[in-house]
Amino acid sequence: MGAGQTYGAGAAPVSPDLPAARLLTRLALEEPEFEARMREALSGAEKWLQATAHEALDPRVAALTGHLADAGGKRLRPLLVLLGAEFGDPWAHGITQAAAIAELVHIASLYHDDVMDGAATRHGVPSVHSRWGERAAVLGGDWLLARAAQLAAGLGSAAVHLNAQAAGRLVAGQLRELTGPGPDEDPVTHYFKVAEGKTAALLSMSLGIGAVQAAASAGDVAALTECGQQLGIAFQIADDLLDLRSPAEVTGKERGKDLLAGVQSLPVLLAREGGDPADAELRGLLAAGPVPAAGVPRALELFERSTALDETEAVMHRRLDRARAALAGLPPLPARRALLALCDYVALRTS
Ligand code: IPE
Ligand code: IPE
Ligand code: MG
Ligand code: MG
Repeated sequence: MGAGQTYGAGAAPVSPDLPAARLLTRLALEEPEFEARMREALSGAEKWLQATAHEALDPRVAALTGHLADAGGKRLRPLLVLLGAEFGDPWAHGITQAAAIAELVHIASLYHDDVMDGAATRHGVPSVHSRWGERAAVLGGDWLLARAAQLAAGLGSAAVHLNAQAAGRLVAGQLRELTGPGPDEDPVTHYFKVAEGKTAALLSMSLGIGAVQAAASAGDVAALTECGQQLGIAFQIADDLLDLRSPAEVTGKERGKDLLAGVQSLPVLLAREGGDPADAELRGLLAAGPVPAAGVPRALELFERSTALDETEAVMHRRLDRARAALAGLPPLPARRALLALCDYVALRTS
């Protein structure tokens, strides 16, 4: 979503030209009844999200805590919650609240992540710390996590457990990224542990909490949780690739920001470990940690010619195959077809 387009404060419905609705249209696969139910539930989730993110009494605090909820995002995690719920009773109590919980945790993680990565923009607008400073951004993220926990408390102990577990795994993944691999740890193995925590834990929880709230069978909950785990790792790899390939106007984030921040993304690790003599200059640029701003355009150019991006894509596709395989035993509902389409979308997405 570009700057200037907003979901708006308060109880805005999900309009058809916003990313969440576009994504849904792409996944609904000409199933009008399913699409209408999902669209209505997404609007319900959006109302919970907006009301919760903006509920601070002081309007200056509400502007900070609602900043990224207003600015956009694909609402992938709420969509996953709703898809998970389709395998039980999608009208059961608490589904739209659970969808809002997943997005609140996601948004909170972005407040913190942009501090960690020194990112200036998010969703095409200034990141929270660029506008209010790092201390306020950290507290704002904490506040959103607290609000997610409170919403979960209204849904019962299963939701409390799933929310707490996912938030803990997410933060542990981010901490693991900060500390880096141990002295004897393979950096690629470390990368997967980071991605499992910082990204896959929440995607997995989103499918799982939807299914649990909807009282789906234990077997279906387990299959969906595994699908979310594999999809989440693939999603993070796709995000790593977008950082190198996709223009800022499309992603709403600066291109090459991972290089600037010295993030050991999968393409960076594979380029560093590769032995192709043609990649020697790229390896030199990446060897010293963060790439200086002046070196980023050259590094991006060299990446395009390297084999590292193709290798990274191959790893992503293997994870997507595993995500698809996890869905094999689920009933043939429109939601199952939508999840398969989502696996295709992850490989093709541009933002
Ligand atoms: C970005 O997630 C952070 C990662 C986990 C890779 P999204 O791509 O889902 O973020 P939105 O859509 O901008 O909110
Ligand atoms: C993704 O972090 C995971 C979280 C935000 C918890 P990244 O740093 O890889 O994601 P982007 O590219 O900034 O969205
Ligand atoms: Mg980041
Ligand atoms: Mg990060």
